[in-house]
Amino acid sequence: MDDLKNKIKSLKEEAFSDLNRVDQLSQLKELDRLRIKYMGRKGAIQSIMKGLKSVDPKDRPLIGRLVNSFKSEFGAKYEEKREELRQRAEQERLGKEWIDVTLPGVRQRSGKIHIIQQTLDEISSIFKGLGFSVADGPEIESDYYNFDALNIPKDHPARDMWDTFYIDDQTDRTVLRTHTSPVQIRTMERRQPPVRIIVPGRVYRNEAIDASHHAVFYQVEGLYVDNNVTFRDLKGVLSYFSRQMFGDNLLVRFRPSFFPFTEPSAEVDISCVMCSGKGCAVCKYTGWVEILGCGMVDPAVYRYVNYDPEIYSGYAFGLGVERIAMLRYQINDIRLFLDNDVRFLEQF
Ligand code: PHE
Repeated sequence: MDDLKNKIKSLKEEAFSDLNRVDQLSQLKELDRLRIKYMGRKGAIQSIMKGLKSVDPKDRPLIGRLVNSFKSEFGAKYEEKREELRQRAEQERLGKEWIDVTLPGVRQRSGKIHIIQQTLDEISSIFKGLGFSVADGPEIESDYYNFDALNIPKDHPARDMWDTFYIDDQTDRTVLRTHTSPVQIRTMERRQPPVRIIVPGRVYRNEAIDASHHAVFYQVEGLYVDNNVTFRDLKGVLSYFSRQMFGDNLLVRFRPSFFPFTEPSAEVDISCVMCSGKGCAVCKYTGWVEILGCGMVDPAVYRYVNYDPEIYSGYAFGLGVERIAMLRYQINDIRLFLDNDVRFLEQF
């Protein structure tokens, strides 16, 4: 009996000194080995329990208590060691992973709506307020819609008004649309009056590119056809639009012009917003800048869409979006819109 007591006592000493020796991170495995050595199914405790049969029954409770306290003390110490090693591992990881919270942060660049789209949205919202709805059409267009149905017959010199990109060659009848006017035809083909639409969109011209000309640019087309639409309505709407866009003090003038699909036709000038009409490089010292072309829809166009010109009349206009943005924000080179230089783009 005393033998067994001593055996438990020395086992306990041995076990604790074993546990105490474990203090390296790399010894997690060793810790586990010790648990198996003392507490495992074939471990030291288990073999003492086996010997319990030969112990005098009246001594068994005492031995039992000793074994139990060994078990719980060992268990507690084992857990403590494990936790210690785990925390040490965490410390080591944090030590390697430190960050300098005093470093300045990384600036996030936020995206913006392109200035041309912003201008398109603004133009659209003015016309939407007047009851216009938005329509669109293809950029790759047949010459029927781009020209013929707009009263510009094949081989007619009026086609030279637009420097056209042909998709294949001159005999191919497919073009990159040179204006948004073909959408007038497409819309009238599908709908009966009243038609009141605007068409914001991209157009293409075979132009030599310089500060004021580009081969790719944007227009907003307008079309209103109904009973009794007059030139006076056209003047009213475009004057209102111009003042909404550029301010109440603006002067607007309608200058006679020519387009094959409108009669009469006009171009609209506004008093130069750079010099308030006094004369500067932008208005070429005239005090006026042109912003759009317009007119009353030519009855010849109605023939193509089966509208009766005796019943209906209407007006159309087409304005250059870059032109408006350039005047509005004092931009002196049309190429900037397509260069995608963030130093330019982020200013708007
Ligand atoms: N489509 C013409 C152009 O691009 C502009 C315009 C549109 C003129 C509608 C009159 C009516 O030059």
